[in-house]
This record gives sequence, structure tokens and C-alpha cells, in this order.
Amino acid sequence: MSSEPFTLRWGILATGGIAKTFTKDLLIDPSTRAVHDVRHEVVAAGSSSAASRAQDFLTSLNAPSSAKAYGSYKELVEDDNVDIIYVATPHSHHYQHARLALEAGKHVLIEKPVTVNVAQFKILQDIAREKKRFMMEAVWTRFFPLSREVVQFIRDGKLGEIKRVWADFSFWNDVEKEFGTSHRMTSPSLAGGALLDLGIYSLTWVFMALYNPLSPITPSAVSLVTKFPPTGVDEQTSVLLDFSGAHAIATTSIRVASTPNAAHNAQDDIRIQGTLGDLTVNYAPRPKSYTLTPASSASRGTPAEFGYETKTFDDGPGGGHGMFWEADECARCVRDGEMESGVCGWRESEVCLGVMDGVRVGGGVGYPEGVEGVEYPLDL
Ligand SMILES: NC(=O)c1ccc[n+]([C@@H]2O[C@H](COP(=O)([O-])OP(=O)(O)OC[C@H]3O[C@@H](n4cnc5c(N)ncnc54)[C@H](OP(=O)(O)O)[C@@H]3O)[C@@H](O)[C@H]2O)c1
Repeated sequence: MSSEPFTLRWGILATGGIAKTFTKDLLIDPSTRAVHDVRHEVVAAGSSSAASRAQDFLTSLNAPSSAKAYGSYKELVEDDNVDIIYVATPHSHHYQHARLALEAGKHVLIEKPVTVNVAQFKILQDIAREKKRFMMEAVWTRFFPLSREVVQFIRDGKLGEIKRVWADFSFWNDVEKEFGTSHRMTSPSLAGGALLDLGIYSLTWVFMALYNPLSPITPSAVSLVTKFPPTGVDEQTSVLLDFSGAHAIATTSIRVASTPNAAHNAQDDIRIQGTLGDLTVNYAPRPKSYTLTPASSASRGTPAEFGYETKTFDDGPGGGHGMFWEADECARCVRDGEMESGVCGWRESEVCLGVMDGVRVGGGVGYPEGVEGVEYPLDL
């Protein structure tokens, strides 16, 4: 086996906030996070509006001068030097843009939520299968070493049987002032709302604790939704799930915060409760630490194998944001000829998306036909 790292060549589709953060991470030397088997090259970026916008994006990030700048996504996906496309447009556009990339024969990493609904995601799966291309939802949280360790700890049975999970990801916002009605967080045309943008992280922790791809369960769910009256998207959503007797509560809001004042009152926003103790995590999207608390009963037949401990991780080695962990997973999967990741597989993304579909139907949160539909191509 070659000792040279495998190189994955990226094309960045969109030039907004998260595209910038992700691309910055791609440009960080993997050895700063002790990764030596894969590396990344940013070979192109595309903007929907102008090549100059894509060029400004690349220049601002100090991307290699050889990286190409395109003024359309179509030109980007047709670049022969690109192996994989990172889709970083608003939720509403994921289906159209991921499909564009897949149809052009590219692998894809698609920002969360992978699509607006299950019907769209199923079509992408069919195309990826037919074209034999790798596809993954960019749920970066799953790939932090902390998250991998927590999932392993749970699967090894160290917490006993998991009975209950509480998970919240919420941000305080002056919604009217900060977002108004046309921002991607509040606009139905951009598939806005708390659930698809933030609530997916709460659900991700629930799934990491209670969903095992080797013995998958489709949970039942009931939910409450409060809408943002001017546009009708959800501004606060709470979901109660049942995984064969284990309960989970996943909450999200764009009105109140998980941690109202992080400087003075850092709180663990994830709590996973097993029969042998609790594991709490701070903080949902970009986990920094976990705390183990063994159950105190001396009369328990099986005492916990762990003591009280808080373990803190570097959430951004090499000065990054932590998005490179998911990029490394993409590189390994493409190198190994996998179409999906074992950590964030299609079935799990689909089941989680199905829960969100059900919550939106129950709460009456719908988006315009073009955004919810499967017609392609569509100029949204
Ligand atoms: N993983 C995370 O931590 C994280 C954090 C934030 C957001 N996200 C996800 O990333 C995606 C993008 O979010 P963002 O915060 O980067 O959004 P953003 O800053 O608004 O950027 C979106 C970009 O998409 C492109 N675009 C194409 N068609 C568009 C349209 N009709 N309206 C608006 N933009 C359009 C634009 O770039 P060009 O036109 O130049 O191509 C725009 O800059 C969302 O799916 C979101 O859920 C993930």
C-alpha cells in the first residue's frame, strides 16, 4: 500500500458563510490533526452569480492560484479536475444542486439537511447508486473525535441501556430585526425555520445515542411547533421520540438559547441517560467536552465501569473549525470506493429526515411547490 496520502480534489458550490468556513478547513494541513492518510485540494469554486464572486471567495481564503473560479454551478460540476462537490447553498436548493453534481458524475457532500424531504433524498440515492458515486449529508458533528468516542462508549454498553436522551440546539435571536422575512432562516422559499437548520443537531445527538445502523429502528414521534407568523416557518419546535421504549426529547428555537450566556453559564445541552449513568455533552454542533456521571446506587448489580470525569477536546486543531473531520471521511470513502459513509449513512439520514417531514406535516410547515417537489432541473 502506498504511503502517499490519498488526495481528494474539491469543487465548492456556493460562496456563502459555511462554504468559507469549510474551505478554510480544507486548506489546513491534515498533519496538524495527526491525519496522514488523506489530504485535500481546493481545485475550483463556483458562484451562481459571477465568476468574479467565486474568484474573490478563493482569493480571500488564500486558495492555490491554480484553483478555477466559475460563474455558474454547471461549469463547476463539469470541471474534470474536480472529484467531489461540496453543496453549500440554502436548504431549498440542495436537491437541485446535488443532482446537478451527481448527474455530472461527481461525488457529493451536501450540507445539512441533505434535502428538504425524503422524496427528494430517495431520488438522489437512486442516482448516486446508478452512477456509483459517493454521497453524504454534511453532518459534521458526527465526525469529531469526541462524537466518535461517545458513540463507541454507548455501543460498548458502558452506560448500560440507554433509556432517555435530552438534546437541544437553540440560538437567541431578535428574529424580526436580525432575519426579517427574506433571510434563509425565516424564508419559506429558502426552506427556513428552526427545525431544518438547528433542530437537526438535536436530532443528530438523539440518533447518535439511540440509532444503530446495524439494527436500525424507525422511531415514532410527536411534536409541537410554534410558527414565525410573518412567514409561517417554525421558530420553535419540540419533538418527543420513541425508539422501542427509549425516549428522546429534541428541542430547537430561534427565540431562546441553549446557553443564554455562554461566558457565565456554559451548560451541557445534550444529556444521554443510561441505566449505569449519564453522559452530558457541551455543545451540540461543535462538541467541546463530555462529562460522565455514574449512577450512585450501591445496590446496583452492575456498577458502572467509569467514574465522574469531564473530558475536554480541542474542537479546532490547526486553527480550524472542525469541519475537516467530515472531509477526511469523504476522502477515505472515495479512496476505498464506498458510496456511503458508515458513520453517516443514507438510511440514517433518511430516517432522520423522515422525522422532520412528519414534524413539518403535523405543524403545518410547508414550503413552495418547487422547493418541496422533485421536478428537475428547476431554476428556483
Ligand atoms: N454545518 C454547519 O455548521 C452549517 C452552518 C451554517 C449553515 N450550514 C448550511 O449551509 C447551507 C448554506 O448556509 P450559509 O449560512 O452558508 O448560507 P449563506 O451564507 O446565505 O450562503 C448561501 C450561498 O448559496 C448561494 N446561493 C445560491 N442560490 C441562492 C439563493 N437563491 N439564495 C441565497 N443564496 C444562494 C450563494 O452563493 P453564490 O451565489 O455565490 O454561489 C450564497 O452565498 C445551508 O444548508 C445551511 O443549513 C451549515
